Amino acid sequence: MTEHRFLQACRHEPTDVTPIWLMRQAGRYMAEYRAIRAQHSMLDVIRTPELACEITMQPINAFDLDAAIIFADILPILIGMGLNLDFVKGEGPVIDNPIRSAADVAALRTPPTEENLPYTLEAIRLVRRELDGKVPLIGFSGAPYTLASYAIEGGGSKNHTKVKSFMHAEPDAWAMLMDKLATLIGDYLVAQAEAGAQALQVFDSWAGILAPMDYREKVLPYVQTVIERAQSSGVPVIYFGTNMNGLLSMLPETGADVLGVDWRIEIDDAWDQIGEDFAVQGNLDPVTLFAPWEDIQRHADNILARTAGRAGHIFNLGHGILPETPVDHVRRLVDYVHERSAALKR
Ligand code: CP3
Repeated sequence: MTEHRFLQACRHEPTDVTPIWLMRQAGRYMAEYRAIRAQHSMLDVIRTPELACEITMQPINAFDLDAAIIFADILPILIGMGLNLDFVKGEGPVIDNPIRSAADVAALRTPPTEENLPYTLEAIRLVRRELDGKVPLIGFSGAPYTLASYAIEGGGSKNHTKVKSFMHAEPDAWAMLMDKLATLIGDYLVAQAEAGAQALQVFDSWAGILAPMDYREKVLPYVQTVIERAQSSGVPVIYFGTNMNGLLSMLPETGADVLGVDWRIEIDDAWDQIGEDFAVQGNLDPVTLFAPWEDIQRHADNILARTAGRAGHIFNLGHGILPETPVDHVRRLVDYVHERSAALKR
């Protein structure tokens, strides 16, 4: 069997048409997802491999997507470290015993993945069986900074005051925390590949809030560790963050095979800064999917025109799909990207 176009694009190889998948493609905008969540909590769903498998398959069955992504979340890895994670309706993730001192960091446990997240590994095995080669399966993890931000802030945060203050005031504890996270994340990603994940995405959703100097000194070395470790499994690695425009020129140093780009920049401008040797994923504004179809089409055309003729573009949103997104627009976008990119390649 020839390799699927999503994996070809990850490897910077030419494809028949542009592959497309959508970050957070399984989720609340789908009635099938809401029906399951009406019966089970977020953590229950993630911890029940049969449910996680069913949800992973929902967008694959509904749309002509080129990749599946395992249904899980970036935050449960923190539970085994000793942090009390809960998903609170209307509030998002909450940790009621956040890290506030060097002693808290020293006390963090680093359990093996098989103990900490066995349910996600099992879900990956189930999904691979269910997919039966139809499309590749993506595994994922949060990146060290983004996970540290939740662990220290105790939840989402606008200004990241606590995490940045800790980074500056406690340099040794920061290094220990980032080391522990990088080790656990690296182990988790390799375990996902061994369980059957065919590509791995590292979500550094909030690293773009950092000054370039802090990103370089306090964050990038741990991203490099994680990505190198993940690549030792032999599968391509995607590194994604939002608000990264001031950091783009540093992204090649992450070592990722594919770099995710948000919508705040034209995709070819970003690609020029990142460099021709990398594959690029993105970058439709998720809110564009709420616009009339003609506007969605214009934005998709813009992205496809700016990436036409370059190998290694994976069409995606610039961030996760939003809860109220019209399902019909998702279906039309996926089909349109295939049709339009086929026409451009002719
Ligand atoms: O892409 C997929 O389909 C796989 C599933 C997936 C989820 N979370 C499921 C989820 C993935 C890849 C994630 C990653 C994730 N989780 C990130 C990085 C990507 C990004 O969006 O920046 C982050 C920062 C988180 C942390 C997180 N999880 C938050 C902030 C929230 C609450 C906010 C929100 O969107 O509701 C979650 C909960 C969550 N994770 C939901 C889903 C589908 C919603 C839970 C629900 O059903 O109510």
